[in-house]
Amino acid sequence: MTWWPASDEELNAPRTNEYEYVKEVLDFGWHNTSSPGVNMRLELAFAERFGVNYAITHNSGTGTMHSCLIAAGVGPGDEVIVPPITAAATSYVVIHQNAVPVYADLDPRTFEIDAASIREHITPYTKAIIPVALYGLSPDMDEIMAIAREHNLVVIEDCAQCFLGEYKGRLVGTIGDMASFSFQGSKHMTSGDGGIVITDSERYAKGVRQAMVFAYSTIEAASAGTTAPPKEVRQDPGFARHLALGWNYRLPELAAASALGQLERLDDLVGWRQAVAAGYAEVIQGHDWLAPQLVPKGLVNAYWCYTVLLDSDEITWHQLRDKIVEFGGEPVYGSWRVTYLEPAFAEERFYGKGCPNYCPLYKGTPQRYAPGLCPVAESIQPRLLQFRTNYIRPRAERQYEALAKAIAFFEGKA
Ligand SMILES: Cc1ncc(COP(=O)(O)O)c(C=O)c1O
Repeated sequence: MTWWPASDEELNAPRTNEYEYVKEVLDFGWHNTSSPGVNMRLELAFAERFGVNYAITHNSGTGTMHSCLIAAGVGPGDEVIVPPITAAATSYVVIHQNAVPVYADLDPRTFEIDAASIREHITPYTKAIIPVALYGLSPDMDEIMAIAREHNLVVIEDCAQCFLGEYKGRLVGTIGDMASFSFQGSKHMTSGDGGIVITDSERYAKGVRQAMVFAYSTIEAASAGTTAPPKEVRQDPGFARHLALGWNYRLPELAAASALGQLERLDDLVGWRQAVAAGYAEVIQGHDWLAPQLVPKGLVNAYWCYTVLLDSDEITWHQLRDKIVEFGGEPVYGSWRVTYLEPAFAEERFYGKGCPNYCPLYKGTPQRYAPGLCPVAESIQPRLLQFRTNYIRPRAERQYEALAKAIAFFEGKA
């Protein structure tokens, strides 16, 4: 039976161990770097659930991807291929490494990064690809991995919106070289904020773990939950602890405690969203001016949200949204703007000294972030409607009803 809470009480009830684990951390108290080991337990449990060798917690799904780029050796002069519709974080992390985000266009039916467009954008400077499992659906990973192997590129799956999605029988996030998940508040499982990286590679796990916490020399791939050198080593004034440039992306134990409890009920949390999405699909079905995100055969969408393309010359995005609200529904979300048309990108408000595009170490063709770069993305972005899938039952039912009435209105049946 799908878990689908009927009330806010049921949604928030301490159904599993979340409250217990948080209490455990509070009862343990604050002792500098020692902890009740919740980050370690979360890392081990997450790695087991996804069937991978390593999981490394972070304090956001942005820090995770930054650490992955560091572990992959991405830096000044490199290009990284990213999709144009997603949270800007996917592009920002590339710029954080003073590397150049290069935009590949989308498939107009799945809204996912298009492998053929990735291939067109490969240059001698391409070092990595970040395919995003947008809205909970995987891009065509077989094709993307084939391109990556051909050109010796690192693949970092951005699975912030995709927990337990499947690609041809495999869990999304277990196909690329590394994968990044976000525990931000809107995600399938959350700790308010947070994130995690998974990988099978010892080299990448070590690189990510070190980037995550000040590049400490004692940290190994398998140091689950370790964020400081051992006390006896640390106490030595001669101890050289920093191997390289490092960041601080530690996940607090309190947040890890909440995430650990959520992980234990992840199947329910994902199944719930999929059930809510199925309700929208029923309402949308048969109305050809509304095109839901296409789920190719063999894939399972984790439905972070249910996304529909408004395919009409007569009805505008705002008209449809306003009608849904008029009929008692909740306002629907539009998609993010195409990232490269955000002012920060279009006006290259990055380091103020021309980097990364005009960095002397960059020998490629400077990217011009202007309209025309990705025609499919620019065409669909203003027409996407993102329906929330984390609704308790009565809210979802109200939303279905309002959507059905809005559709009937525009089809002249109301
Ligand atoms: C696709 C995608 N990537 C990255 C992020 C960044 O994650 P965080 O907010 O945890 O930093 C988000 C959302 O927040 C996202 O949706």
